Amino acid sequence: MSLYAIGDLHLHFQSPLKATAQKKDRVWKNHEETFKKNCARLLTPDDTLVLVGDHSWGRSLAECEADFRYIAQLPGRKILTRGNHDMFWDAAKTGQLNERFAGQLSFLQNNYFRYRDYALVGTKGYTFEGPFYLNARGRVIGWDERAEAHAKKLVERELQRLRLSFEAARADGCRRFILFLHYPPTNILEEDSAFTAMAEEYGAEQVIYAHCHGEARFHDSIQGEKNGIQYRLVSGDYLKWQPLKVLD
Ligand SMILES: [Fe+2]
Ligand SMILES: [Fe+2]
Repeated sequence: MSLYAIGDLHLHFQSPLKATAQKKDRVWKNHEETFKKNCARLLTPDDTLVLVGDHSWGRSLAECEADFRYIAQLPGRKILTRGNHDMFWDAAKTGQLNERFAGQLSFLQNNYFRYRDYALVGTKGYTFEGPFYLNARGRVIGWDERAEAHAKKLVERELQRLRLSFEAARADGCRRFILFLHYPPTNILEEDSAFTAMAEEYGAEQVIYAHCHGEARFHDSIQGEKNGIQYRLVSGDYLKWQPLKVLD
């Protein structure tokens, strides 16, 4: 029995493909087939696979049906977290998603799932990268205060959701945590963030994240150990569609 993770499948079995990189970059060519084969080779029905957001280009549940069928047919238990492109996922209706897909797919937000003696907790997260204006020398020459205020609101909302997830697990006696975020936990300067602080507060052992795809972005955030936590990027193209083993 093992725990695996990967993110950013960006499936499009029944919806238009919107990313040019996905059309051009070789790593995306037939990526659904590559991923399916890798899962068949690596995973057993006893395993758990966490899909860390950006599942589908579909804009509604109806437009994601074929993508969900593909995910449901992968081996093992499948747990999905929310990515910035997951338009099908109304944040207020995660419970309804869990009812509708009961026995096939589980949706992680404001709740948690058990894996051995661990609680799998998570939320979409949010990475605040600016918004500053740079001159040709890379010096900050302006700041968009409205965008900054908006970003702070998004971060606050995601932190509330994440705390609910941690607290639900804690209330049930869980003391060991693996944290899943879609967005990277830090900005590109790898500065501490409210998300790294919460991971430390609850003693999460690993923080797994995605969203950084395309080679130029693979190093946009922390990888490796910091303050006792392992940070691991699991974007699908970074992993070449081979799910990462998070725990045995
Ligand atoms: Fe993505
Ligand atoms: Fe994303």
